[in-house]
Amino acid sequence: MKGIVFTEFFEMVEEQLGFELVDKLIDETELKTAGSYTSVGTYDHRELLALVSNLHKFTNIPVNELLENYGQYLFPRLADIAPELINKFENLFDLLLAVDSIIHVEVQKLYPDAELPKFTTASHKDNELKLIYSSCRPFAYLAKGLILGCAQYYDEQVSINIENMHKDTLITVVR
Ligand code: HEM
Repeated sequence: MKGIVFTEFFEMVEEQLGFELVDKLIDETELKTAGSYTSVGTYDHRELLALVSNLHKFTNIPVNELLENYGQYLFPRLADIAPELINKFENLFDLLLAVDSIIHVEVQKLYPDAELPKFTTASHKDNELKLIYSSCRPFAYLAKGLILGCAQYYDEQVSINIENMHKDTLITVVR
């Protein structure tokens, strides 16, 4: 997992919960990296899961909620990596339909070692989009948060439903 996902996570915890909690998280989570992430480095995604799991212990906020909140925080920051890429799209559904075929393809060119999920369109209507999230990493709620962050970016109101399907996750977005 790219370092930017870790550095922005610490930024969010610091902004929303204070820097003492960042210190406590780094001190009390077993991390190979010892907490010294750089945005261009690449780290084991299980370190992020361990950090989120400890944040849950310290705050009592459910893990899925923490991942969702983090996705919302992360979207505008990811959008900053390649603003010209985001500017191609005029609304949430247009962007979501291109995450797999355009956005993450460009991300992979920028960071050849990026580990990205797969999104398949299950159905697409004017007010409803069903996407299948497939990844060997358990970040469906991060995806939900990123979609909410993206909706906010376009000033759109949506509701999102997450449904586990065997190994994959069905994400239904209604606007
Ligand atoms: C709403 C739109 C998007 C969704 C739903 C989405 C979803 C995700 C998810 C769920 C991951 C975590 C990895 C995994 O689950 O296997 C991820 C990773 C990532 N995405 Fe996206 N993404 C979106 C838009 C973007 C944009 C706009 C950018 C930047 C231009 C971007 C760049 C990245 C990067 C850099 C990673 C980290 C890869 C790694 O850790 O190796 N994403 N994305």
